[in-house]
Amino acid sequence: MELPSKVKIVEMRPRDGLQNEAEIVPTSVKIELIDRLGVAGLKFIEAGSFVSPKWIPQMADSSDVMAAIKRVSGVVYSVLVPNMKGFDGALAAHASEVAIFGAASETFSNKNINCSISESLARFEPVCEAAAANQIPVHGYVSTILDCPYEGPVPPEQVARVSKLLYAMGCHEISLGHTIGRGTPRRAQAMIDAVAREVPLERITVHFHDTYGQALANILAVMEQGVAVIDASVAGLGGCPYANGASGNVATEDVLYMLDGLGIETGVSLDAILDTSEFIAAAIGRPPASKVARALAGRKAA
Ligand code: HMG
Ligand code: MG
Repeated sequence: MELPSKVKIVEMRPRDGLQNEAEIVPTSVKIELIDRLGVAGLKFIEAGSFVSPKWIPQMADSSDVMAAIKRVSGVVYSVLVPNMKGFDGALAAHASEVAIFGAASETFSNKNINCSISESLARFEPVCEAAAANQIPVHGYVSTILDCPYEGPVPPEQVARVSKLLYAMGCHEISLGHTIGRGTPRRAQAMIDAVAREVPLERITVHFHDTYGQALANILAVMEQGVAVIDASVAGLGGCPYANGASGNVATEDVLYMLDGLGIETGVSLDAILDTSEFIAAAIGRPPASKVARALAGRKAA
């Protein structure tokens, strides 16, 4: 079993971790959250979304957030963009990177971005061209990589096909979104095998939601295949409004605890992440979903 010696953690909390919150989180909280994450040593933070505010009201203030954060040198502040309107917003907000987001299943694509997979690819093409012209890197998501909330299990070849097209369009990383967290490690490995035939392994990011408690096991399984970029969200929590019942991304604290224990370098401070986890949990009035945060808070209290 060969594991990577270094892993990049991509922090999702300000976007994926907040987009599903029913109560609008104050802009000042989002700004402080992002500033804390930068100081904690995270090098890649997904800071917001330039999507329709009618669809995702929680992200309507992404411009204000991007204008007020204290950018740490060397940290990438990325935002989601579904189309050219989103890209123009991201450009005006000086996003250091943009992410386009497609899906491996038709029904999820229609529910999430109101178009088919092929229509979405046609919308992404001008975004990639404009990003290249402005020297802005593009990250490409593929959702429903193991299961679709509407269609059930998704064949790995379908994931590989969309990944290949996004990579060919110019996405420098392909983030594989396990939107509803149902899948288990051997299925995750089979899906990575299929995608890695089309996209270089070092360009693959995994984005596991922890709905069924499988995220850490899935992460370890795909790290054994050589995947070394992991999306995670401080305190867990969150999810996609178009995947009913889906809970948040795997918690950054839980991933870090495992990676620290395996001797894998991340450059991220677990203590600073735990403080940030307490901060955001208090701000939204719910305890962290992270087991590590709960265990260490219990030890501190004792
Ligand atoms: P649509 O209604 O088909 O768009 O939505 P449209 O082009 O027909 O425009 C309708 C209205 O939206 C117009 O405004 C546009 O100006 C406006 P109106 O004239 O009615 O006032 N509009 C926009 N406004 C702001 N920013 C924009 C924008 N585009 C159009 N960029 C659209 C299509 C894609 C816009 C919509 O479906 C949408 O915004 N969807 C967002 C979905 C979303 O954010 N989902 C959550 C993120 S994805 C996720 O969580 C999964 C992931 O984490 C991976 C995983 O876990 O699997 C990434
Ligand atoms: Mg997600």
